[in-house]
Amino acid sequence: MTALSFPGEPRRRRTNWEKWGWIYMRASGVVLVVLVFGHLFVNLMVGEGVKAIDFGFVGGKWALPFWKWWDCLLLWLALIHGANGMRTLVNDYTNPGTVQRILKGALLVAVVVLLTLGTLVIFTFDPCPAGSPAELLPSFCAA
Ligand code: HEM
Repeated sequence: MTALSFPGEPRRRRTNWEKWGWIYMRASGVVLVVLVFGHLFVNLMVGEGVKAIDFGFVGGKWALPFWKWWDCLLLWLALIHGANGMRTLVNDYTNPGTVQRILKGALLVAVVVLLTLGTLVIFTFDPCPAGSPAELLPSFCAA
């Protein structure tokens, strides 16, 4: 959509956030297919499958920067994708006003809190916390 301008005034270009939101849903959807199915395949199908998932399994995966960044990207893309999708639903099913503002505000707060906590968990995770029972720790932790 073109912004209104007076005759003789240079045309001002405004960022069309709805358009970029629409593009984001498609672009993140394509990347999410790879990230989600890669995540499910490695966690549920490779090796012993779902039975192998425990603290040590997660600790072992997050010892590698590759899986930290994979999970971080999955977290950010999926959370923003889901929240932007919910924003569309709120726009579709509520009228502009206080309720709509509260719902969108709650979505924003939830996204910021969860992205902050999730990113902190991924990057501050210690696979070998001091004083933990040895049988719960990944095999690469020194006894
Ligand atoms: C395989 C991965 C995914 C793909 C390919 C995908 C694709 C899409 C696309 C293309 C849209 C836009 C639909 C439209 O505008 O009509 C959409 C909407 C949406 N997505 Fe996803 N998505 C994926 C994963 C997720 C995840 C993990 C969540 C939740 C965190 C999510 C939540 C939503 C929501 C709430 C909407 C809005 C629904 C609506 O407008 O009716 N999606 N998705």
